[in-house]
Amino acid sequence: MNTATLDVKVSRKWTEVQGICGFELTAINGASLPSFSAGAHIDVHLPDGLVRQYSLCNNPNESNRYHIAVLRAADGRGGSKAIHDLVQEGDKVKISEPKNHFPLAHDAAHHLLLAGGIGITPILCMAERLSVADENFEMHYCARSRGRTAFVSRIDSSHFAHRVKFHFDDGDPDQVFDIAKTLEQAPADSHLYVCGPRGFMDAVLAEARRQNWVEGRLHYEFFGGVVEQSAGDKTFQVKLASNGVTVDVAPGCTVVQALAETGVELLTSCEQGVCGTCLTRVLDGTPDHRDSYLTDEEKAAGDQFMPCCSRSKTPVLVLDL
Ligand code: FES
Repeated sequence: MNTATLDVKVSRKWTEVQGICGFELTAINGASLPSFSAGAHIDVHLPDGLVRQYSLCNNPNESNRYHIAVLRAADGRGGSKAIHDLVQEGDKVKISEPKNHFPLAHDAAHHLLLAGGIGITPILCMAERLSVADENFEMHYCARSRGRTAFVSRIDSSHFAHRVKFHFDDGDPDQVFDIAKTLEQAPADSHLYVCGPRGFMDAVLAEARRQNWVEGRLHYEFFGGVVEQSAGDKTFQVKLASNGVTVDVAPGCTVVQALAETGVELLTSCEQGVCGTCLTRVLDGTPDHRDSYLTDEEKAAGDQFMPCCSRSKTPVLVLDL
């Protein structure tokens, strides 16, 4: 796993639309930055100690800068507020090298890109890449209203503007996004890429599965994952296979927190089951998956889990630690 960090400078910060700030990050010495592919994200280390993941939204051919855009979430966990309020133009920040859990399938004959709200960031990067590579794609961008929608003028003036349809909640009824129709009309063997609010993604993926799109053609990235907590959560134990140490994990406490209290520090980043950093092998027991990172098949296999948020269905979970 790549955990290297880079020091970069915020060379530009701008208000994209109300509630959404854009940030341009460049190397401190003006050198090139590590290359990235469409769909990649970086971890950004925020001044108050939080680490958050943001998708890169500039053209992946650019080697001198990274662009991210962040929606200020009123009900978030503090990351978006911190970057809006505490990170200013000229500041230095620490970031990870780009990682990509949401890559394009370049062997697909056609790509269907669906963005909801701020989920536009990786989707826009994909559109840039597919346009440069002259691959077939169409993009649908759903948002509340044109005035609160990021990157409208960039898209309207792009080479791929004719491939993009906007759908605004407050627009004419005939432009409202029709998930079923859009998926039905996609060319056979299209690959679907979706990013946006949880409800939007759940609706798109449920419809795709209802229409029998195979999992290998569905690509998605959750952000700001909601970690489920349940009133029925019970204490369970995790056992470390290397030394046999057993640790209690009480309701309201994560495996990561319980292990940290006994001096076992696991590498984490998002702490909400989104990024994959804490992925841990399970040697015995049945995980109770609460993450948005593993696929349904991987969850069913039960041999790995995310200790930052997932729990156990069995009294003991033996971990490959
Ligand atoms: Fe991100 Fe666990 S730390 S999935």
